[in-house]
Amino acid sequence: MASGGHDQIQDYPRKQTPQQQITHNQKCKLKLLVIVILTNLLTIYLLTGPFNLNLSGYTNHLSPSPWDSNSLLHELNSTTSQLAASHSIIAELHQKLNSTNLLVQALLIDLTSLQDKQFTNQNHKFLKLAIDDLSNGISNELMLAIGPHKLPLGYSPRMRSDEVQPPVGAGCLRFQKELAQYMTYDIGGECPVDDVFSQMLMLKGCEPLPRRRCHPKSPTNYVEPKPVPDSIWETPPDTSIIWDPYSCKSYQCLIERRKKPGYYDCKDCFHLQGREKNRWLFDNGGLDFGIDQILETKPHGTIRIGLDIGGGTGTFAARMRERNITIITSTMNLDGPFNSFIAWRGLIPMHLSISQRLPFFENTLDIVHSMHVLSNWIPDVMLEFTLYDIYRVLRPGGLFWLDRFFCLGQQLNQTYVPMLNRIGFNKLRWNAAMKLDRGIQRNEWYFSALLEKPMT
Ligand SMILES: *[C@@H]1O[C@H](CO)[C@@H](O)[C@H](O)[C@H]1NC(C)=O
Ligand SMILES: *[C@@H]1O[C@H](CO)[C@@H](O)[C@H](O)[C@H]1NC(C)=O
Ligand SMILES: *[C@@H]1O[C@H](CO)[C@@H](O)[C@H](O)[C@H]1NC(C)=O
Ligand SMILES: *[C@@H]1O[C@H](CO)[C@@H](O)[C@H](O)[C@H]1NC(C)=O
Repeated sequence: MASGGHDQIQDYPRKQTPQQQITHNQKCKLKLLVIVILTNLLTIYLLTGPFNLNLSGYTNHLSPSPWDSNSLLHELNSTTSQLAASHSIIAELHQKLNSTNLLVQALLIDLTSLQDKQFTNQNHKFLKLAIDDLSNGISNELMLAIGPHKLPLGYSPRMRSDEVQPPVGAGCLRFQKELAQYMTYDIGGECPVDDVFSQMLMLKGCEPLPRRRCHPKSPTNYVEPKPVPDSIWETPPDTSIIWDPYSCKSYQCLIERRKKPGYYDCKDCFHLQGREKNRWLFDNGGLDFGIDQILETKPHGTIRIGLDIGGGTGTFAARMRERNITIITSTMNLDGPFNSFIAWRGLIPMHLSISQRLPFFENTLDIVHSMHVLSNWIPDVMLEFTLYDIYRVLRPGGLFWLDRFFCLGQQLNQTYVPMLNRIGFNKLRWNAAMKLDRGIQRNEWYFSALLEKPMT
């Protein structure tokens, strides 16, 4: 075991990883120091202590009286007692060695924890430096965008502060390089056309993005939109937007996309004269509920304002508008100008991902609708937060129309039904059906639900 220990000590320098070199070197130095001190103490102890191995005196005692049994016995007695004394001294030394070992161990533990602390301190310093670096060095503009800024009129009792920090998604600080890139532009000039990049940042969790002091590129030959209701079912002119961020370069291309192979978000949504025209007009008693059937579940006229989460090209809002109901449509621009399209129709788009807290006060909305967007791609915990947020913004008696939620058969009863039950909606209507287009063996399901926030 001793040789093992020896080997260990010898192996120390070879076994280290480069990052640990400094730490281990310091440990070795400390060990050496302790060992030197211990050796010195041991020497002093051996020289001055009661344990005196006076072997020469011992042999001298033996020699002059060879066969005298008495003196022999005496000698034997004294030898025995000396032996006993040395035994006890050895035991004592053992104990001291043990306690020294413990001391060394304790010292080493202390040293390690000290170094750990130093390391975390260094980490903190590093993080702070990184943030400083981000704010000073790379982009002064970012620092200005996210503040803090002193209030010109001083302390505000409303804010309980004398400064204000414009909000930015906490996730942004995790993507410092990208954020710095996003904040690089000519102040007062034209913004880079970086829609795809900035939307990717949003989707990753940097939401809201910081504000910028630049002008978005403006379309050439822009013509003003038609009045409602003519605009609602009209395809916008191609000159109404900048096409750079999208793989299609015209609305005709977007309309034709439904015939192309491959996956696109809301593939047939731009084709207003196609499937879009009939959505939510008819209730098939199954997954597809009709708007009028849903509105009939509440006293006439009590559903007035609401939100469509992930509302594609805004047709749900269009149909609701025909019923004098105002719906805000949240949507991302996933390889298509969804926000611009909705706005052109005369409806209200919001560029908001489903990760974001809904920008509405609690107990305000009469209805929240969502089709296809909420489904099993969302991490369970995050979905639960989203559903609670929907519950929050709905008024008592408000409706949550969860339209065609996609999941696997086992998830339906194991995950989503219990989750919805936990949140506390009343179930007014519930339909589940297997999605068969990719084969029964995939066990893919849709469910549609009409849920109500309880009145009390
Ligand atoms: C030896 O030691 C024993 C007990 O310690 C004692 O009884 C005895 O008398 C001693 N003998 C001599 C010769 O000193
Ligand atoms: C020293 O420590 C070892 C193990 O920790 C123990 O087995 C031994 O009895 C101790 N010796 C003394 C003298 O305390
Ligand atoms: C919507 O409001 C307008 C103006 O108040 C009214 O003329 C129309 O009948 C309403 N439409 C419906 C479906 O209630
Ligand atoms: C879920 O549970 C219900 C009621 O227990 C049952 O009728 C239904 O078949 C289950 N659905 C799936 C997909 O397992």
